[in-house]
Order: sequence, then C-alpha cells, then structure tokens
Amino acid sequence: MNTVLEAIKKRRSVRFFHSKPVERDIVTAIIEAGNQAPSAGNLQPWRFIIVEDEKIKKLLLEVTLSKWHKIVDYLKNTRPEYYKEIMFESRYSELEEPKDPIYFHAPIILFVIAHRRHAVDCALACQNIMLSAYSLGLGTCYVGFGAMVTDNTEIRKILELKDDEQIHPIVLGYPKEDLPRRPPKKKPQIRWI
Ligand SMILES: Cc1cc2nc3c(=O)[nH]c(=O)nc-3n(C[C@H](O)[C@H](O)[C@H](O)COP(=O)(O)O)c2cc1C
Repeated sequence: MNTVLEAIKKRRSVRFFHSKPVERDIVTAIIEAGNQAPSAGNLQPWRFIIVEDEKIKKLLLEVTLSKWHKIVDYLKNTRPEYYKEIMFESRYSELEEPKDPIYFHAPIILFVIAHRRHAVDCALACQNIMLSAYSLGLGTCYVGFGAMVTDNTEIRKILELKDDEQIHPIVLGYPKEDLPRRPPKKKPQIRWI
C-alpha cells in the first residue's frame, strides 16, 4: 500500500508511553511537518510549544484532573454510555498510579496554539504532526481534555497565551505497545451527485 495511505490507516491514538525522552531532532522534524499544513491565506497562524519540564507537566495535570473527575462523574449520572466510552478509551483502570487520564504520562505535551478563528488550520497541522510522528515510530493522541487549562493564570503565563488564543494539545512519545486496539470506524457516508 502507498505509505501515506498506510500511515493514515494504521495511526492510532496512543495512551501508554515509555518514559524515554524523544530526541529533539525528531520532535523538530514532526513540528516541521505540522508547519507544512495548509492554512487559510497561507497565514500559517500557529505556534508550537513543547513541554518536557516535569514541573510544568505536573501543574498541567493538577489543573485538569479535578475538572476531568467532575466531568466524568457528571457523565456517569447523565450519559452513562458516553461515560463508558471515555473510561474504555482511556483504559482508566489500566493506568499506572498516579493515574493520568489526561496526558497519559507522555514524555512530551505539545501545544499547537493560535487565535480561535484559526481552529481549522490548527487541526490540519495537528493531523500532519500525528501522521508524521507515526511514520517515525512515535505515538500520539490529541487530548481535548488537556485544553482545560486556559483559565489558569500561571499556565496562561507559561504558555504566553494571548486573549482569544486556543490551545490544541497532543501527547507524544514512544509507544509502550505495538498495536493499540483499533476502534470501530464507521463506513463513510457518501453521496455522489
Ligand atoms: C477533538 C478530539 C479530542 C480528543 N480528546 C481526547 C481526550 O481528551 N482523551 C483521549 O484519550 N483521547 C482523545 N481523543 C482521541 C479520540 O478518542 C480518538 O481519536 C478516537 O477514539 C479514534 O481513535 P484513533 O485515533 O485511534 O483512530 C480526541 C480526539 C479528537 C479528534
């Protein structure tokens, strides 16, 4: 199979990582792939922040974890199916202590950041990042829950967030398992007209 199609088909969200750091030249190559994404008017509106610092990672987790618990507790009562899906996806019961169901103890938390009007451009950059990471033997997961930090003043300062900027978090590292289970994919709905 063509290598691009193969990568698109085989990339999976990875949630278990080795603690081994990722070499900077590899991270740079992945960021450069993100930077090649199409963007409206070729504005390339994004910037990238790579978090390796353990203290910052700890702070990010502390800020998000209590919110995550509140959300999943709420879903447990109101939308049990969705709750089950989240617990299944994160494989919460299998997570090592201390449990990190947000950033999954990844060696790198990567943020793609831009004004919220550029969300589509950022999403395209994120996909380039995740596919290129896969092609280099790395695992990634887009972690929407990880974005619940933008009301924290200290984190806003660390990320140098401007008003109306949105963050797109991706965790990155060497995967601990060869083949994460393949989630069911629906058949595409196609209408030829
Ligand atoms: C916008 C968005 C938000 C997501 N947020 C999370 C998240 O917070 N935690 C998580 O474990 N996975 C998250 N994911 C990953 C999805 O769960 C995953 O892509 C989906 O289950 C399909 O699996 P696959 O990526 O292996 O094809 C997110 C994906 C997207 C696109």
